Amino acid sequence: MAPRDRLIVALDVPSLAEAERLLDRLEGQVTHFKIGSQLFTASGPAAVLAVQKRGAEVFLDLKFHDIPSTVAGAVAAATRLGVWMLNVHASGGAEMMRTAHRAALEAADRQNTSPPLVIAVTVLTSLDEAALGALGVRGPLADHVEALASLAQQAGLDGVVASPRETARLRARCGRAFAIVTPGIRGAEPGQAKRDDQARTLSAAGAIAAGATYIVVGRPIIGAPDPRSAAARIVAEAGG
Ligand code: C5P
Repeated sequence: MAPRDRLIVALDVPSLAEAERLLDRLEGQVTHFKIGSQLFTASGPAAVLAVQKRGAEVFLDLKFHDIPSTVAGAVAAATRLGVWMLNVHASGGAEMMRTAHRAALEAADRQNTSPPLVIAVTVLTSLDEAALGALGVRGPLADHVEALASLAQQAGLDGVVASPRETARLRARCGRAFAIVTPGIRGAEPGQAKRDDQARTLSAAGAIAAGATYIVVGRPIIGAPDPRSAAARIVAEAGG
């Protein structure tokens, strides 16, 4: 895969106008964008269309977590929007994930397009072992992440979101064909290592070396004075 196609830029902005300004600045340099619940709640499918109009692909990061039939409906709707990738919470269970996967295939089949990649969120990066324990989950956090990733793989999903902490273990456990999408990317050079609220970070090159298929980068690009050259720098790192 070309290094450029490994980068997914998070459009974590509050309005369609701001998203469009960024898309214009990044056009041709960035081929994949993530739309999360903030932008999608504000602007809906118009945000997806704004990305697609510029020839780029959408990862719809809405982390569906509901009963199987509701998730199936949401996945079918996202597939009709033509998104490239979407996600569900693995903790919704095996049946929900199987149903989500099937809904994507069926909706794509009906409109004669390729289905989106359906991936799973394992444990939110904002949770630590104590927070997980408070939810009634005992044992090491890494084991729970691995168990949920395996469940997702058995349910037929295409991959998982994994923090830099987990990428290498999941790559070893899930094999080469499973997509691993890794956020928490920060610059390799000391001056660039602005961490924001990321508890653990890796450089783009470090994440790829650990086994990430795709890297998700938000603030280091969208908050940079020159987002286009920030993206180019990260792509160069990803390729090196
Ligand atoms: O930190 P950055 O702005 O690069 O975050 C990009 C994306 O990574 C966010 O949209 C969020 O989904 C994810 N993220 C995460 N854990 C964090 C911070 C961000 O998974 N602690």
